Amino acid sequence: MDDLRDKYLTAIANAGDEAALENLRVQAVGKKGEISLKMRELGKMTPEERQVMGPKLNALKDEINSALSAKKQGLGDAALDERLRGEWLDVTLPGRSRRNGTIHPVSQVSEEVTAIFADMGFAVAEGPQVESDWHNFDALNIPGHHPARAEMDTFYMHRDADDTRPPHVLRTHTSPVQIRSMELQGAPLRVICPGRVYRADYDQTHTPMFHQVEGLAVDKDISMANLKWVLEEFVKAYFEVDGVDLRFRASHFPFTEPSAEVDIRCSWEGGTLKVGEGDDWLEILGSGMVHPKVLMAGNIDPAAWQGFAFGMGIDRIAMLKYGIPDLRAFFDSDLRWLRHYGFSALDVPTVRGGLSR
Ligand code: DAH
Repeated sequence: MDDLRDKYLTAIANAGDEAALENLRVQAVGKKGEISLKMRELGKMTPEERQVMGPKLNALKDEINSALSAKKQGLGDAALDERLRGEWLDVTLPGRSRRNGTIHPVSQVSEEVTAIFADMGFAVAEGPQVESDWHNFDALNIPGHHPARAEMDTFYMHRDADDTRPPHVLRTHTSPVQIRSMELQGAPLRVICPGRVYRADYDQTHTPMFHQVEGLAVDKDISMANLKWVLEEFVKAYFEVDGVDLRFRASHFPFTEPSAEVDIRCSWEGGTLKVGEGDDWLEILGSGMVHPKVLMAGNIDPAAWQGFAFGMGIDRIAMLKYGIPDLRAFFDSDLRWLRHYGFSALDVPTVRGGLSR
């Protein structure tokens, strides 16, 4: 019995893997194993012999079984250690640099403009890009014969010759969102409406699709002074300069009366644009007091309410601020251009945290 114990305990201790261990278990304590066979011999013994041999064999069987399970545990731990060593990873290594996408200047500038006007209490409003020609023109006091309709190089949606429903256009400006906002919200009202607009035009500073942002404030006792202050605050914040001279130049738009175009002081010295200095003037937007007919089209009583409005080109002010010379490149999807002029996705523009830094 001592020989058996030595033989199996040594073999178990030396077993290299779980398969070898299982073989040993079958050989020793399996149904036809050496120790099981010995136990069967108990039946042939005298009762006295059996009383001595029975407990000894049982003790040996127990001893081998527990050696087997201890070894099995040990082999499992070793296998796990081995795997952990193989799968080891240094999480402190610097990451591999990947090319990240960038935020397009139009998106960046829309965010900047939205942040500035949100700070002054303007909400963002939206309207459809396929617009009824009533919202795009008539409601804005541009009747059918008005030259502005022709000037805007409008894209008309296709209609069958016998279709009598009113025509639809790709909106030529964001001004129809003024009408929709008034219809939807009534007065008082303070919104900006950034979005895509369309005109059949194509050269260095014109593309058939471009972006505008419209502003509209309707309230009691609104005057040109409010318009002027809001635009001055906007231009200072947007161009990130303290003092900017603005020039309000009398102009004409069908939807405002009086109307003004706004220029900013700038210099082109050395071929680069600097805002806020120099002797040149650059037009950046159109604006005015909302025409009473436009208020009425939006179901607002012009005897009780006044409003100011303005509209400017997002792409244009993006080109001015970030020195981008050709508008057409905005929409070419050229990766080299996007990497050069794009912005980091993690720099969200805020008025206090910085717009473009
Ligand atoms: N809708 C005009 C355009 O596309 C811009 C404009 C001018 C908008 C004056 C206004 C405004 O709201 O008051 O050229």
